[in-house]
Amino acid sequence: MTAVPAETPPADPLLRVEGLQVHFPIKRGLFVDRTVGHVRAVDGVDLSIERGSTYGLVGESGCGKSTLGRAVLRLVEPTAGRVVFDGTDVASLSGEPLRTIRRRMQMVFQDPLGSLDPRQNVESLLSEPLHAHGLGGGKQGIAERIRTLLDAVGLPSAALRRYPHEFSGGQRQRIGIARAIALEPDLLIADEPVSALDVSVQAQVVNLLEELQERLGLTYLVIAHDLAVVKHISDVVGVMYLGSLVEQAPSEVLYAEPLHPYSRALMSAVPVPDPVVEETRERILLAGDLPSPANPPSGCRFHTRCPWRQETRCDDEVPVLRELGPAHLVSCHWAEEIRDGVLRPRSAEEVAATMGVSVRPTGVGDIESDALVQGIDAPIERT
Ligand SMILES: Nc1ncnc2c1ncn2[C@@H]1O[C@H](COP(=O)(O)OP(=O)(O)OP(=O)(O)O)[C@@H](O)[C@H]1O
Ligand code: SF4
Ligand SMILES: [Mg+2]
Repeated sequence: MTAVPAETPPADPLLRVEGLQVHFPIKRGLFVDRTVGHVRAVDGVDLSIERGSTYGLVGESGCGKSTLGRAVLRLVEPTAGRVVFDGTDVASLSGEPLRTIRRRMQMVFQDPLGSLDPRQNVESLLSEPLHAHGLGGGKQGIAERIRTLLDAVGLPSAALRRYPHEFSGGQRQRIGIARAIALEPDLLIADEPVSALDVSVQAQVVNLLEELQERLGLTYLVIAHDLAVVKHISDVVGVMYLGSLVEQAPSEVLYAEPLHPYSRALMSAVPVPDPVVEETRERILLAGDLPSPANPPSGCRFHTRCPWRQETRCDDEVPVLRELGPAHLVSCHWAEEIRDGVLRPRSAEEVAATMGVSVRPTGVGDIESDALVQGIDAPIERT
């Protein structure tokens, strides 16, 4: 009899976020600060990221993406929930163990100029984290390591003596990435890593991130409002609305068949490279702006703008994130009926009239960027 090989249990994800909430107090008062409410920037997010994979997080400006990233790194204290990194609850740590785990999670920021100290040259910027963590093995070792880092991000060693303002936007982002990988992290949180860059440069930086992931076995959380970038590099995409995830799916599934009305609206705003399809592309416009996270709508938070809203369930009952297909999670009471065409959408004008708001011309505003003009299916060219 042939022995049946024991099944290898699936490896734990590198990062698990469970019921994460970050609420910022709103203070008022002339002499004594009173808390008069809370901004619910992140309001109950669950997600996990497999080792070596990329999770893309998208959503409108102000929906809580950066706050989520910062809470994972404990740059802001979560109000509730857990962040479990490589099996360890980050909140349970302090002192040296917290420093060690922080070294293993690094961030690349949206604004490379703002996040690099203008008074430090590249050598100093790159050696600082090594010194701070006692890494590098002496002066010689650190110099060697810095050269390797520069090489990894495609910058010449002549860059060492120069200052951030002497570089182009793309080069500065390369310095930001070099600084983030200097400590050999396992997880890189890239918060809008390319949105400040020209389209052609965006592609180079995205390609660099991909190359580094392959070479160094990195795991990524990429935050972006550029759907083209997220699609290109993500294994799994999560769509966020007003502090919560409304849909999560493998990238190709989400782009092929978004099921949540908000995701559908986002995708419908993306131009298609095929001119014939583009001509007939139906755009879902949204009524009104993103409501305030200090006073989110009752029931389904999207009900004030949703073309498929059904009275009164959508207004009263909070939908749960449930599985509609393999690894495809959606939080909408009517996702099946919408998918099957049983429910028809109302026009943005009708929704706006019911809600007493105006229709936004683009539907998703900040979600659109120059890169989308390339079309989401256009491959990002390697340079
Ligand atoms: N330190 C803070 N104190 C109070 N409110 C905050 C703080 N940081 C963020 N917020 C609020 O939390 C909400 C979410 O902000 P966040 O920056 O996480 O959104 P975002 O999705 O990253 O937006 P963008 O795409 O514009 O970067 C916003 O309403 C913002 O004003
Ligand atoms: S639950 Fe209702 S309001 Fe919310 S997305 Fe679904 S149909 Fe729209
Ligand atoms: Mg942000």
